Amino acid sequence: MGSVRVQLGERSYDIAVTSDGDAGLGSFARQRIRNVRAFVITDEHVIEHADKVAAALGAAGFQPLRVSLSAGESQKSLAAAAYLYDQLAEAGADRQTLVVAVGGGVIGDLAGFVAATWNRGLPLLMVPTTLLAMVDSSVGGKVGINHPRGKNLIGAFHQPIGVWIDTAFLNTLPDREYRSGLAEVVKYGVILDAELFAYLEQHTAAILARDAECIRHLVARSCRLKANVVEQDEREETGLRAILNYGHTFAHAFETVGGYGAWLHGEAVAAGMICASRLAERRGLIGADVTERQRRLLQTFALPVAPQRWPVDDLLAVMRRDKKAVAGRLRFVLPKRLGEAALFNDVPEEDVRQVLENAGD
Ligand code: GLY
Repeated sequence: MGSVRVQLGERSYDIAVTSDGDAGLGSFARQRIRNVRAFVITDEHVIEHADKVAAALGAAGFQPLRVSLSAGESQKSLAAAAYLYDQLAEAGADRQTLVVAVGGGVIGDLAGFVAATWNRGLPLLMVPTTLLAMVDSSVGGKVGINHPRGKNLIGAFHQPIGVWIDTAFLNTLPDREYRSGLAEVVKYGVILDAELFAYLEQHTAAILARDAECIRHLVARSCRLKANVVEQDEREETGLRAILNYGHTFAHAFETVGGYGAWLHGEAVAAGMICASRLAERRGLIGADVTERQRRLLQTFALPVAPQRWPVDDLLAVMRRDKKAVAGRLRFVLPKRLGEAALFNDVPEEDVRQVLENAGD
């Protein structure tokens, strides 16, 4: 079992990366918390995984209670949070009750938000079951639910007491979701680690075959890279953590204009990264070769590299709203070379329009 330490003073925690099933999960939790009550929150797609998690906790002396929700982004709502608060109240949860999130990004964000707010904060154990949640959303403490005005508008920073990643959970993940998660791994390569990017290029076959050793390496490296950023800018105050949003300004516009059902998040991020990379080219930060390497890699993972034929004016309108444009200038994370990126607040809207209008070329 590998382990990544997130150093945040008294909020420090370990991310365990294993493929050995739930052996070790009970003691991992027990070493971090002494109470007995555990509240396992999951969704209908991964109930079997959640049952195994609950059994492992039970064997370690916890009394787990499992609550299952229907799957989907619509669960990141006040209504779903209220339902979970009712369940916690009924179960007599106290401030020591361990909340365990077993699922993808939606369950992690929702269960994490409930853990952050019930009784002024309960301990949280993340057990991600999708690649996206393993490499991104379960690490770093961002939890939240959506408001009709926008995603994640109601939320908190609430670091977990630990993250348990069993890559064997990925064996049952639908192919499209798996590939969507790979987009976030590619992102880490572009913004922080040229060596990781080269590793991805050299191991595409093993990655697509879901080779366990290869996945463990990708997950552990991605978590380490994210942890390094979170350790330096936990609450996204200095601009450093913002670089994790590479490709996401475009992606948010694609998801909003295309409707959230059109693309999975990672698919939108993949096309968004290529658009952001082309912006960086226009600014003279990188050569076309850097974009081309990303494009080729993402295409190998069967991810989209250009938006669908959505009206450019609609996409720009979302970006203007999203990022508080000042005098026709927008905010983007742009690569400065492979393995390094920075936040730019002064991107002319006209450049963004040009990139979008020529995106399919
Ligand atoms: N997913 C971006 C972040 O955690 O900051």
